[in-house]
Amino acid sequence: MKSLLKLAVLLPLLVSACSKKPAELVFAVGGAPNELDFWETVAADFRKETGISVRILRQPTDSDQRRQGILIPLKAEKNDPDVFLMDIAWIPQFAASGWLRDLDAAAGAPVDTAPFWKNIVDRSDRYGGKLVALPVYVDAGLLYYRKDLLKKYGYAKPPATWKDLLEISARVQAAVRKENPEFYAFAWQGAQYEGLVCDFLEFAGAKGGLRTENGRLLAATPENIKALAFMRDLVSKYKISPPNTYTEMKEEEVRLFFQKGNALFERNWPYAWGLHQAEGSPVKDKTGICPLPGFAGPDSVSTLGGWHIGLSKYSDKPEDAARFIKYVLSKKVQKELSLKLGWNPARRDVYGDPEVLKVHPHFTQLRNIFDNAVPRPGLPYYTQVSEALQRRLNAGVSGNEEPAAALEAAQKEIDAVAARYGGGK
Ligand code: GLC
Repeated sequence: MKSLLKLAVLLPLLVSACSKKPAELVFAVGGAPNELDFWETVAADFRKETGISVRILRQPTDSDQRRQGILIPLKAEKNDPDVFLMDIAWIPQFAASGWLRDLDAAAGAPVDTAPFWKNIVDRSDRYGGKLVALPVYVDAGLLYYRKDLLKKYGYAKPPATWKDLLEISARVQAAVRKENPEFYAFAWQGAQYEGLVCDFLEFAGAKGGLRTENGRLLAATPENIKALAFMRDLVSKYKISPPNTYTEMKEEEVRLFFQKGNALFERNWPYAWGLHQAEGSPVKDKTGICPLPGFAGPDSVSTLGGWHIGLSKYSDKPEDAARFIKYVLSKKVQKELSLKLGWNPARRDVYGDPEVLKVHPHFTQLRNIFDNAVPRPGLPYYTQVSEALQRRLNAGVSGNEEPAAALEAAQKEIDAVAARYGGGK
């Protein structure tokens, strides 16, 4: 009787300590409001099919903020969220921390990875011989341009080199400014966050970037210093990128700026296409997509991005969670994700689908860009490396630090991080 009484007192406490309902899966995912609404629909359809409820834990769009939001419950060993989307850049950290379950074991049988990009799965989703994540959609940096403006000012093609981009920008900007004082030719991501590192890797080009020499990650190379100077000059010397590039410009700010009709060129991920083409968008049917320019023609670099799904080690419903993951990666959902959001599904079989190609004729061209996109370093301590880079690159773009000094300072910080977490390598 006594113990029954105890239980009666304890039970409500136990239940309230655990924030999720007993029969529910929690899926942490972020993004623009239309993207979160999409995930609500996926959850509702999954429930109809399986009877399993999924609650969407809504996160912001910024990758760094999303990571923080998931780190807190994982470090506290909470069973909520069960499933989450991870930026490709964080998978090594999550895997090395032991936070991800083996997806083959959770599914009770080996997961068929054949439909996905093999190079991406092999490089990013396996850890210690186990499958710890799977890609949901892939990203690569692209150049969006205003077809109508290029035509109006006599350009038959978008620029292939940064030099061409500068020339076209200066001319078109001077002309359009007469009617629209808010106009800047080129919008890109310069705020202090993960997106800045992605843009930097693209400006750094095929010869620059974060290469490794004798186990040391090199940041302060001549090519990288040149790239950072170029990024700064876009804002303060050529003045073709808005002054708030380094204070505010993340993906959504850039996307909205272009979508309002205030830019000729935009660097963004594929998701912007669907929104530019949406009903009511001022740039609908006026937008083109092409690879980013290079320094000497076809040597352009696109950073590989994308979001992968993982199952928490602390989930108390790994089988249900594995069923949900399988559903998210089914051809049906992957096709919807591309038709409704314009995202690039991780399943390659969706790209040949006639219905999808009708809505996204540019998908054929994108496949090629994805095959060649450049990944960020796959280090468990990449997020610390990135944090140092974000700060120093931002100081370089804003003119607070000289590009060489900024990258040399970043190099010192990276060496220190590597010594602390990587055994000096
Ligand atoms: C996109 C990419 C991701 C990248 C982020 C940077 O979400 O998919 O990989 O880290 O942008 O802002």
